[in-house]
Amino acid sequence: MKICCLGAGYVGGPTMAMIAHKCPHITVTVADINEARIAAWNSDELPVFEPGLDEIVMSSRGTNLFFTTDKVTAIREADVIFVSVGTPTKTYGAAAGRAADLKYVELCARDIAAHSDRSKIVVEKSTIPVRTAESLKAVLCANSSDSISFQVLSNPEFLAEGTAMEDLDDPDRVLIGGEETPEGKAAMETLAGVYATWISRDKIIQTNLWSSELSKLVANAFLAQRISSINSISALCEETGANVDEVASAIGKDSRIGSKFLKSSVGFGGSCFQKDLLNLVYLCEHFGLPEVAQYWRSVIGMNDWQKRRFSNRIINSLFNTVNGKRIAILGFAFKKDTNDTRESPAIYVGRDLLEEEASLAIYDPKVTSDQIYLDLGAKSEPNHEEKIEVCSDAYEAVEGAHALAILTEWDEFRDLDYRKIYDRMMKPAFIFDGRNIANRKELIDIGFNVYAIGR
Ligand SMILES: NC(=O)c1ccc[n+]([C@@H]2O[C@H](COP(=O)([O-])OP(=O)(O)OC[C@H]3O[C@@H](n4cnc5c(N)ncnc54)[C@H](O)[C@@H]3O)[C@@H](O)[C@H]2O)c1
Repeated sequence: MKICCLGAGYVGGPTMAMIAHKCPHITVTVADINEARIAAWNSDELPVFEPGLDEIVMSSRGTNLFFTTDKVTAIREADVIFVSVGTPTKTYGAAAGRAADLKYVELCARDIAAHSDRSKIVVEKSTIPVRTAESLKAVLCANSSDSISFQVLSNPEFLAEGTAMEDLDDPDRVLIGGEETPEGKAAMETLAGVYATWISRDKIIQTNLWSSELSKLVANAFLAQRISSINSISALCEETGANVDEVASAIGKDSRIGSKFLKSSVGFGGSCFQKDLLNLVYLCEHFGLPEVAQYWRSVIGMNDWQKRRFSNRIINSLFNTVNGKRIAILGFAFKKDTNDTRESPAIYVGRDLLEEEASLAIYDPKVTSDQIYLDLGAKSEPNHEEKIEVCSDAYEAVEGAHALAILTEWDEFRDLDYRKIYDRMMKPAFIFDGRNIANRKELIDIGFNVYAIGR
């Protein structure tokens, strides 16, 4: 069997690497239009940082795993084609800021139709709105000869960045949606057979297309909702003297609630939660359900408020002005163990502080300085560039700083020498722990003014 994947991003790259690693009998080709990204996948410095990814890629690359910009050949030779391109929130025209922009997905469908000379299975790996498979099939059929047919499957990806390789190796479930026809069922079985090479059959769920597409949006909406729920309680804890981590631990012991995704923080980020929630909101509006739309929109509203609340806390604590003050920012990725910064709370907090004329000294173990400058509008916003310094470690960032803000929960930030940090900072020295990872009592004993979330 030959598999091709269009899109070598955070999902396409790791997912295909795992299939190639687990299925030596399958040739997997990942094609992307971004030449620099493909060159990086073919180098020693992969474009995506994920614990364990390098080893998995190196185990198969050049044997049965290939990265290429030649999508025509990749499409022509494949029996199964995954579409794993971006589906960002639309920024223009009707439903801008809410609906998913499906232009990349549609372009893939047109390429597949143009370069296929036999019947194929097309798998939606990208997260897309409900009933996109129908549109994909319409584009595929209208642009190919009558002698070939396409089965479109939905196979949403549930991996979490930072633990992608573990999630792919041992997923909670694999979801495959397809048409309820003999051909649709056969196609689902073909894809299920690939996953069954290493995943037990009882974890491979087969549903109709629309259930599968909707389940992905709903899964992300529920996960984001838990974070917004506990973050709303963090504000109440700060007012009442309760401790949000103690509350989360106490409620998480209830098996009906469960302990995961109850960690309060400066807010959720990542490329998916906000985009998929907006998508769900738009679907609800489209289907005439404004109350349901409003319910899910408030999850995003709470997240925006939490990020703003954190920036305001920094400004208020520093005697209502950060103008000209150096603020050290530890962590820029949207979570630990990834180099992805999309929708990272650090971007929002950083921009708020820059607007207030602060100077930022930023350190992140995996995010490049180019990415940090880009995200903070160094080139596009007046005066931003000279106010941003990207540092090579935490101690350099805190040198002469008035405050330190921890914005990503990288493990190395737990073990810093906070006495040494205190000595290097201006006094009074402030710490704003947006991830509740530092030892609050120890910091207070050293002499810091400490703000942690929900305490
Ligand atoms: N990132 C995650 O954690 C995650 C998890 C689950 C699902 N998803 C979904 O998976 C999809 C992909 O997300 P991602 O994070 O990998 O995005 P990404 O932006 O990292 O990667 C998308 C890639 O597609 C390429 N591309 C665009 N048009 C193309 C075309 N016509 N042919 C070939 N390549 C093309 C881009 O150059 C880019 O490299 C999205 O729908 C996302 O919602 C993401």
